[in-house]
Amino acid sequence: MAKAEKSWEKRLSGEPDELAVNFVESLSYDKRLYKYDIVGAIAHAQMLAEQKLITRDEFKAIKDGLIEIGEEIAEGRFKFEKKYEDIHMSIEAALVEKIGEPGKKLHTGRSRNDQVATDLRLWMRDEIELLQARITLLQKAFVKLAGKYADVVMPGYTHLQRAQPIVIGSYLLSFAEQFERDFVRLKNCRDLLDVSPLGSGAIAGSTLPLERKSTAKQLGFSDISYNSIDAVSDRDFCAEFIFDCALIATHLSRLAEDWIIYCSSEFGFVRIDDAYCTSSSMMPQKRNPDMLELIRGKTGLVYGSLMAMLTILKGQPSGYNRDLQEDKVHIFAASDTVEACLDMAQAIVSHTKFNTKKISAGLEDGFLDATALAEYLVGKGVAFREAHGIVGSLVAHCEKENRKLAELRLDELKQYCDAIDADVYENLGAANIVNKYVTKGAAGPKQAKEQIAYWTRELGQR
Ligand code: ARG
Repeated sequence: MAKAEKSWEKRLSGEPDELAVNFVESLSYDKRLYKYDIVGAIAHAQMLAEQKLITRDEFKAIKDGLIEIGEEIAEGRFKFEKKYEDIHMSIEAALVEKIGEPGKKLHTGRSRNDQVATDLRLWMRDEIELLQARITLLQKAFVKLAGKYADVVMPGYTHLQRAQPIVIGSYLLSFAEQFERDFVRLKNCRDLLDVSPLGSGAIAGSTLPLERKSTAKQLGFSDISYNSIDAVSDRDFCAEFIFDCALIATHLSRLAEDWIIYCSSEFGFVRIDDAYCTSSSMMPQKRNPDMLELIRGKTGLVYGSLMAMLTILKGQPSGYNRDLQEDKVHIFAASDTVEACLDMAQAIVSHTKFNTKKISAGLEDGFLDATALAEYLVGKGVAFREAHGIVGSLVAHCEKENRKLAELRLDELKQYCDAIDADVYENLGAANIVNKYVTKGAAGPKQAKEQIAYWTRELGQR
């Protein structure tokens, strides 16, 4: 049998310009939707049979043909031809070529507009699961590393200036929290996209008695959409999905930035494993954290995709417009990039060591204990504002004499505030202070251990 023509070739005259064929095609990138297009087509055909719009035998032929086509694509035996524009037309044309007449009935009551909207949702449902699995692995890597350093004190920074002492465990768990929100955001995205647009046709539904709940159920959607005009042009879920990817990228870029700084000689807090460093073609001593820099850099692509997606949607007239074809470029780019970055980050986190000697050697620099000293004074009945001023003066005094707060004698301390007693020394020094944190969620070892237990339980169930 001759290869099926595109049926609309009857409508248009002459040959399409080669330039236009190349310009309009999406096959080169939407072929990755093939599995979803096939399951969507089988569900549609089954519904057509249930509704007696095609016979049981026709359905059987369609289903078997589609399955064979799926296998051909999976095994790389399928011949993709650009003239079919996209995966939807390619599969349909191949079906007609393979099974003849029944194949021509598959598109009954269906448009590529509701078809692609369905495929995208099916693809995204799976993609979200893959992303969530990667997020979980990354969280587990953080929790494991946090377990190794649950008691080890490091400086906590605000404005990248030394602020208060924290334990490394808590620092690492701060990322488990960030990625947890990403996990939940993706779940919410999945919940919202869980409606079937199939049966909405091109814009107005159909005069044929399509049973939309049947296809929705077969495809595992929990509901159908209730407005065909909206259903074929809604890509809110694409924008949301890319936004979720963009925040994952944001979090990864902050981790990358921290560790790029932390592995500099100036800090020397972490050692990124050699496997995740590169060297310089010129400077023989170099050990560069290029993977982290790339994680940080690739954030740009994901933000770009988000901006592109929103711009594609802005101001489109109601109903489907071909602009929407570009949605795939950006959802694929964003998710591929974020997947790769999550994998890379997980590998790096799993192999990173903190240089605890270097960290503790510098721990008493920068007056990390100043806030705790002010709070000690509050305990002695001094109003916080006043305590803040007293400690500020003490710090200035120490700075002049190049000493630490803990090095001041009691009589010297008392000159600034009479309420200070000998027990003050338990409240000075970074290592002492982390054990004094009592608030829930604080950055001390006790809280870190509680959180490690929580995350181990929680993530163990995923
Ligand atoms: N390739 C198209 C897309 O991705 C499929 C829908 C085309 N619909 C149309 N009416 N031309 O959006």
